[in-house]
Amino acid sequence: MEILDGKKLSEQIKEEIKQAVSLRKENGLKTPHLAAVLVGNDGASLTYVGSKVKSCERVGFKSTLIRLEDSISEEALLSKIKELNQDDTLDGYIVQLPLPKHINEEKILLAVDPKKDVDGFHPANFGRMALEMESFIPATPFGIMEMLKRYDLDISGKHCVVIGRSHIVGRPISILMSQKGQPGNATVTLAHSRTKNLAALTQKADIIVSALGVPDFLKADMVKQGVIVIDVGITRVSDENHPRGYVIKGDVDFKAVAKKSSYITPVPGGVGPMTIAMLLQNTLLSCERSDG
Ligand code: GUN
Repeated sequence: MEILDGKKLSEQIKEEIKQAVSLRKENGLKTPHLAAVLVGNDGASLTYVGSKVKSCERVGFKSTLIRLEDSISEEALLSKIKELNQDDTLDGYIVQLPLPKHINEEKILLAVDPKKDVDGFHPANFGRMALEMESFIPATPFGIMEMLKRYDLDISGKHCVVIGRSHIVGRPISILMSQKGQPGNATVTLAHSRTKNLAALTQKADIIVSALGVPDFLKADMVKQGVIVIDVGITRVSDENHPRGYVIKGDVDFKAVAKKSSYITPVPGGVGPMTIAMLLQNTLLSCERSDG
């Protein structure tokens, strides 16, 4: 069993991005600039956005954090988005999800200029990704593909079971793994809450990507010997013994499943850090595309 060390790999990728940025500066090219919009005070979102901004500083990007009140109207948020679309100093920006209930998330994501949509959530980018055209690939599936590539894991012709059909992880990773190329060419089954007898599918899988958000969901008796397991779950579970008052749990019963796996991602330290690295990668890509 080998651990897929997302923390270490993300550090390596960030180091490469840092080098690219410093070379850009030496050559008089623009410094990449990422903005993050955070509406309200959700604890998890604050942590995620905080890490994104901190990582920007690490690699030498400019970053701007835009914090807005929970009570902001949809109209006011749309006008902020319009402003960001017109801001030529920005290479990309993200609107941290979830948004407050009174705001239509779809309407907001549609308003983002696809050229600055470094989260890859706009339908123009999703469609382009599905058609294998130049796009921004959402950071989490992008991070998983990069991890497979850098660990030189061949998924070609293998059976991959993805658990969860979310727009930001399950659906896009199912498309990417089945695409032509390396890594790619996998035979993919996309399982979800209505799937019957999920265990029968996962027991046959060569690769399992779990993006469900249910702690310890995937048990050892649901996988075969030698499986590759990618755990995308990051659920906060209350834990009074921890100074923070909670711990982060993946979807996989790690200790037991690891014994049967050839490769497995830990939580934390697996897919999570890769997501941030790939957001930075998308921002650098956007900046390079605007060099002309
Ligand atoms: N909320 C949970 N994951 C993400 C993400 O990757 N991007 C944004 N913008 N919001 C999120």
